[in-house]
Amino acid sequence: MPGIALIGTQWGDEGKGKITDLLAGDVDMVVRCTGGDNAGHTLVVGGETYKLRLTPSGILYPDVTPVIGNGVVINPRVLLEELDSLDSRGVDVSRLRISGNAHLVMPYHLEFDKVTERFLGKRQLGTTKKGIGPTYADKAMRVGVRVQDLYDPKIFGQKVEAALRDKNQILTRVYGRLPIEVDEVCEEYLGYADRIVEMVCDTSLLVNEALRRDETVLFEGAQGTLLDLDHGTYPYVTSSNPVATGICTGAGVGPKALDEIVGITKAYVTRVGTGPFPTELFDETGDEIGRIGHEFGTVTGRKRRCGWFDAVLLRYASRLNSLTSIALTKLDVFSSFEKLQICVAYEHQGERLDEVPFHQSVMHHVVPVYEEMPGWRTDISEATSYAELPAEARAYVERIEQLAGVPVGIVGVGPGRRQTLRREAAATVGVVQ
Ligand code: GDP
Ligand code: IMO
Ligand code: MG
Repeated sequence: MPGIALIGTQWGDEGKGKITDLLAGDVDMVVRCTGGDNAGHTLVVGGETYKLRLTPSGILYPDVTPVIGNGVVINPRVLLEELDSLDSRGVDVSRLRISGNAHLVMPYHLEFDKVTERFLGKRQLGTTKKGIGPTYADKAMRVGVRVQDLYDPKIFGQKVEAALRDKNQILTRVYGRLPIEVDEVCEEYLGYADRIVEMVCDTSLLVNEALRRDETVLFEGAQGTLLDLDHGTYPYVTSSNPVATGICTGAGVGPKALDEIVGITKAYVTRVGTGPFPTELFDETGDEIGRIGHEFGTVTGRKRRCGWFDAVLLRYASRLNSLTSIALTKLDVFSSFEKLQICVAYEHQGERLDEVPFHQSVMHHVVPVYEEMPGWRTDISEATSYAELPAEARAYVERIEQLAGVPVGIVGVGPGRRQTLRREAAATVGVVQ
């Protein structure tokens, strides 16, 4: 019963969508488990680009069952727009299955995400403004509205009314906004119910049955380890748990269901939104990485902050997720670089730190300790095997592997599905080879 989890090891946008799409060709099911439409997963297939926010990246394969698990928060308007767009491009979306336990992003969650960010001013988190934090907060407060509530209009209305009773007070009295009408919310949301009714089910049961039949299930992570609510750079994080254990909760499977845990990492680091980022580059090199790597947010279009590769973060991610292998993406972005830097440790007040410091104030002030490596100054985007890569490129990959203590099984050399190299030396991700 092979279950394979694909986890972001940085601050998101590591290429999870592309790697999921690559591996999905050989699996039976692809499950999204956490986050919502704050995620933006880009797939490039046969020259066509797909930007998926809620739909699992396996949707493009006709034999894969795509599943949205209970841990995902769903804005039904965005989901339906996405399904319509895929449908208009000839993708069969009828196989999608949606957990009845998943929480709904409601119009008031979107409103609160906007106004609270505005009120934070300079201290704002730089959220995607998709209502993610307020939706998970209501889930924890036990006043959330779930997908299954769409199928009991009376209960749905009661829940929305209860939620809006105090929220409208806060919206109008604290934030000076107009109140949100219960009837309008109910009319809009109950209107979505019929369109997805055939897709809603007990997805935990579905996934566990697939595993019991010995089918291969891919768990597609969203966001990244450093954005994790518990283990990330709090408060500059998202409101869910993108780490491997969050996958279990968000899909409704036990930890033994994860036979392989693949950490997705870029050959450098990016971050959107606010928060500490030790290797961030503020110079031309940072701009060049962003320009060559097209580092603009899929969801918000914001310019991503760019920096050198950070092995301290990867080791941290390896420990938190029990990584069994690494998929290293975007190596091609460095093709024109003469020299590369890898951050191997941090320094703080004269002390060397080999681990991510637990204290956030320290994390804000650490200085990276770099190791320089030669570039390869050759276009590698057409390479078809790992052995074909220039020696300097292989040395870079192997140094990362050594620093992380986890084998690199996959190397990305371009955005296309085929621009991916498998490494035989690291006999990983074996079940889908
Ligand atoms: P995700 O959120 O982790 O799925 O990542 P995004 O899709 O937000 O961002 C990754 C970007 O890098 C997308 O535009 C991908 O098409 C692109 N990409 C993924 N792998 C590679 C690679 O190996 N090389 C290059 N040049 N681009 C890649
Ligand atoms: P994928 O799945 C990159 C970031 C936001 C912000 C913080 C909180 O594409 O890798 P939120 O809207 O979640 O409350 O914002 O988290 N963030 C992401 N950054 N990739 C993502 O998803 C992200 N999802 C959230 O930019 O800093
Ligand atoms: Mg993304």
